[in-house]
Amino acid sequence: MQDSDSSAVDASGPQAWEQVGTSEDFVESEPWPVVLTCGQRVVIVRFEGKVFGLSDQCTHGDARLSEGWAEDGWIECPLHQGRFSLVDGRPLCEPVTEPVRCFAVREQDGAVWVEGSR
Ligand code: FES
Repeated sequence: MQDSDSSAVDASGPQAWEQVGTSEDFVESEPWPVVLTCGQRVVIVRFEGKVFGLSDQCTHGDARLSEGWAEDGWIECPLHQGRFSLVDGRPLCEPVTEPVRCFAVREQDGAVWVEGSR
């Protein structure tokens, strides 16, 4: 499988890259929850071969986006069906109005990495 980002993963510095799985773990358009060492919940979604990471918490209410539906570059909240862009986390339809946090994700040498806080 090709890397989504060919830059090397640097595990040093104030932000830490964490391996959250292998390339095979993340199937096209299937939201998958991961928890970073810092406790942050992230939903990982593969779309058109590239892997994206968003906060696994809807900005409209108490719902996990990883329990929702992903398609065509968006993820839909399971509670009220608000949608967010996988690319930049922006809200795409009512009732969501606040963007969801995005995380940097890299796929390298068959592994998937997310940049979290130390
Ligand atoms: Fe997500 Fe309402 S809780 S759209």
